[in-house]
Amino acid sequence: MSQWNRSSWREKPILQQPIYPNQEQLKNVLNELQDYPPLVFAGEARSLKEQLAEVAHRRAFLLQGGDCAESFSEFHAKNIRDTFKVLLQMAVVMTYAGGLPVVKVGRLGGQFAKPRSSDYETFDGITLDSYRGDIINGVDFTPEARIPDPQRMIKAYNQSAATLNLLRAFASGGLADLHQVHKWTLDFAHKSEISQKFEDMAEDIGKSLKFMEACGINSKTYRTLRETDFFTSHEALLLPYEEAFTRQDSLTGEWYDTSAHMLWIGDRTRQLDGAHVEYMRGINNPIGIKAGPSMDPDDLVRLVETLNPKNEAGRLNIIVRMGADKVGDGMPKLIRAIEKEGMKVVWSCDPMHGNTIKSSNNFKTRPVDSVLTEMKQFFQVHKAEGTFAGGVHLEMTGKNVTECIGGSFVVTEEDLSSRYHTHCDPRLNADQSLELAFLIADTLKEAQN
Ligand code: PEP
Ligand code: CO
Repeated sequence: MSQWNRSSWREKPILQQPIYPNQEQLKNVLNELQDYPPLVFAGEARSLKEQLAEVAHRRAFLLQGGDCAESFSEFHAKNIRDTFKVLLQMAVVMTYAGGLPVVKVGRLGGQFAKPRSSDYETFDGITLDSYRGDIINGVDFTPEARIPDPQRMIKAYNQSAATLNLLRAFASGGLADLHQVHKWTLDFAHKSEISQKFEDMAEDIGKSLKFMEACGINSKTYRTLRETDFFTSHEALLLPYEEAFTRQDSLTGEWYDTSAHMLWIGDRTRQLDGAHVEYMRGINNPIGIKAGPSMDPDDLVRLVETLNPKNEAGRLNIIVRMGADKVGDGMPKLIRAIEKEGMKVVWSCDPMHGNTIKSSNNFKTRPVDSVLTEMKQFFQVHKAEGTFAGGVHLEMTGKNVTECIGGSFVVTEEDLSSRYHTHCDPRLNADQSLELAFLIADTLKEAQN
């Protein structure tokens, strides 16, 4: 294999990239970004890798979630806080009811660039270039908004830096203290069956904490009661941006993408000889590969060989996103191919991207039933194959949206128009996310009995 460097992807065929009209301006922005401070540190990415190795060894579960696409217009402390709170609620449900530590990774602080199924969008007879995420162009349906603008990368960096700053404060400044578990419930939370179930569990946790306190174990003496580790991730799609943040670690001499702790390759850009695989093979962060229904088992084995030649546990996360009707047939052959080679990977389930439909009133939506079904099947297949269902990858938000239909506090097709805010794919709201967390917890507990 040829020598890797942070620009070697430029020699390979590349998909899903914008064409910037002003190359000079692009060059200037990239030069500027190269000098900006890293958003994360190599040591943190290594620590995530260690935690993911625990998942690979069946001793922890991975929870990865957040927006499909972060946007400049939804940038608000409250939104970041509420998504963080829902992730904490889900994690505590899985830990307490499921009995396993949870590795928490947000699709946050950099999840801006979107792959699209078509280069163009047509609306009312007018065709324009597709929206590719706020880091590239604007969502408004006008020719001007759709022109790729390199300055957007600077804005995305600044928003990511501010988001990370707040997340770090939440994770270690008191909000994540287990004694605050009652405060993780969102202000608008109505008394649904699920929120009641959470309250009951929080009550139990409170009692356990009191008992532990009496034994001398409290937030002052134990960091893990007071703080949590929270990591960030996004799809490494816009390679010029990722290249600008690819830095050599002064401790080990290894290269890391310092724009997030974990990066993943999307289902549309995972070609073995393509630019995205070339870029990812050289960075030392933990990485994900999305695997849709068209993933061929031999191709997956070759991808894993290329991306994880030392077979390190915790380096690779295969994120299966086949759809409720395909995962039962599609996933066993992937698992068998990987097992046959003795490859160490974390398997996680993205039950969102294979279950997107158009509602009769023309909204892109996802039925919560299909999401739950895909998740259940994912667990069943792993059980049958004797492998570990290691994690979940979700599009969700702490905002009180109506984007996915169904759930125990039912959102109907008619409700979709009331609070449909996503810039890209439909997200689970807090209730729907918690419902899924309880389902996962039950399955995890069952697996241990
Ligand atoms: C996504 O995660 O938002 C996405 C586009 O996923 P996929 O690559 O699996 O389609
Ligand atoms: Co998406």
